Amino acid sequence: MKRIHVGHVTEIGEKRSRVVRVGALEIAMFKLSDGSIKAIENRCPHKAGKLSEGIVCDHHVFCPLHDWKIDLHNGVVQAPDEGCVASFRVEKDEASGELYVHIEEEKILAS
Ligand code: FES
Repeated sequence: MKRIHVGHVTEIGEKRSRVVRVGALEIAMFKLSDGSIKAIENRCPHKAGKLSEGIVCDHHVFCPLHDWKIDLHNGVVQAPDEGCVASFRVEKDEASGELYVHIEEEKILAS
């Protein structure tokens, strides 16, 4: 597991996203209205829509292409659709506000 610095908490607006690249892996970081930060792969499991361009509502994002609803806590697609997108644990340094994402090395190489 790698711990990778991906920016500062102030770089993401509330209910907004920011895209970071880790090797060939593209990650969409979201800030929810409670201030928590979530990270999922920036690729919809349906037809690869850019989830970072979706609308955030509560702890879900709606894919901009066909409106699939994805849980930002775990990447699970909500019924009636099915599937899952990779999600990553985000660590926020409470003192500095710096953000880190924990990613399995195989995931970085496989993307
Ligand atoms: S590509 Fe995301 S819902 Fe179709």
